[in-house]
Amino acid sequence: MKYEKLFSPITMRSVTFPNRIQRTSMVSGLATEDGYVTEDLTKRYQREAKGGTGSIVVEAAVVLASKSPYNLRISSDEFVPGLTSLVKAIREASNEVKVGIQIMQHLKLSRSGWRQRVEDFKTEELVGIVNNHMAAARRVLAAGFDFIEIHMAHAYALSSFLSRANKRADGYGGTLPKRMRLPIEVFRAVRAVVGENYPLGIRINGEDFHVTGNTPFQSTKIAVRFAELGADYISVSAGASFEDALPPAEGHPPDPMSGYSGHRMSPWFWWPDGTHVHLAEAVRAAVRQAGFDTPIVTAGKIREPQHAEKILRNEKADIIGLCRALLADPDWPIKAKKGRENEIVRCAACNWCLEADSRYEKVNCSRWPEGALRCPDGFMPAMARPAEIEKELV
Ligand SMILES: Cc1cc2nc3c(=O)[nH]c(=O)nc-3n(C[C@H](O)[C@H](O)[C@H](O)COP(=O)(O)O)c2cc1C
Repeated sequence: MKYEKLFSPITMRSVTFPNRIQRTSMVSGLATEDGYVTEDLTKRYQREAKGGTGSIVVEAAVVLASKSPYNLRISSDEFVPGLTSLVKAIREASNEVKVGIQIMQHLKLSRSGWRQRVEDFKTEELVGIVNNHMAAARRVLAAGFDFIEIHMAHAYALSSFLSRANKRADGYGGTLPKRMRLPIEVFRAVRAVVGENYPLGIRINGEDFHVTGNTPFQSTKIAVRFAELGADYISVSAGASFEDALPPAEGHPPDPMSGYSGHRMSPWFWWPDGTHVHLAEAVRAAVRQAGFDTPIVTAGKIREPQHAEKILRNEKADIIGLCRALLADPDWPIKAKKGRENEIVRCAACNWCLEADSRYEKVNCSRWPEGALRCPDGFMPAMARPAEIEKELV
């Protein structure tokens, strides 16, 4: 097969992922305003599962009981039945795909432009962040997911604790070991809930891309520490912090996708393909040098199977994260596997999807027919879907 590495399985604890393609977490705006699973959200994931991705990280589910409209939530037991049917429905669409979920605590934002900072938490409140993640992990197990990813990237709480911008003076900020303290407490607490047999990954920023943020100098050390603690994979993302963003427009909350850092998370068309591979490569090298074989996920404008295979062959990463590429064409994996890569509908990196998310709208793709909430079946530019692909998709 042409893409041997890409389509080779990988095992983490008790779970074998059928290939090296991971659909990274992507807020869809398809949950209800209160954060419950909807039919549209379910169909979105079913469609992506049918296309042959090895794993799906279901979008960031909020562990905190506070308002964040249209974000998926896992902050109370009431959300478990919906999440359970989501997992079941994804498995009905593909009996191979492994289904995980990203859990996260955000920092609060208000339309007045106010944003919560890590310095705003009292020391005694931090245990609440740990407990929120533990309770969420129990719900993840109850819903039947195959693995958990703890969100420690972008503008959210744990990432902000890790950042050089965290100046807390109570042992949870300042130096890197102190900034890692809360994320480590969360990680250990979640591990205690899920046990030793269950894959538990983390997502970090390889670089924050603002002047007061982390660079690979810090992120490599963070990665080594979590490898040592037994993280089953480390997904390396970038940016999406507010620190260098302009103040929001009147009556709008701050937008983490603005500013230079904000523009780095999902690289635009003007950046080269594989924009963040060097960050994963640096993290992987540091982790390997420290003696750990923790798989490293890279994501960021990887659009071609040839490119994905080369990244794996050159040992720059172990898993290829595809987010917008799979939104644009969920059949990317099947088409690659069948050698029909020229029929992949390429992500234009236009960030139509990301801008919808920033406006709190339903996320869709500029390459789909107008108004569609899912990629249509038989989504090929010039020809009808061949019978053998059709067969795999039913
Ligand atoms: C609309 C949208 C929502 C996203 N939501 C999340 C999220 O919930 N959690 C996360 O870690 N990354 C999120 N991302 C980032 C992606 O997972 C991915 O890292 C990034 O888009 C780069 O990969 P790509 O070029 O394959 O899209 C989001 C990206 C987009 C476009």
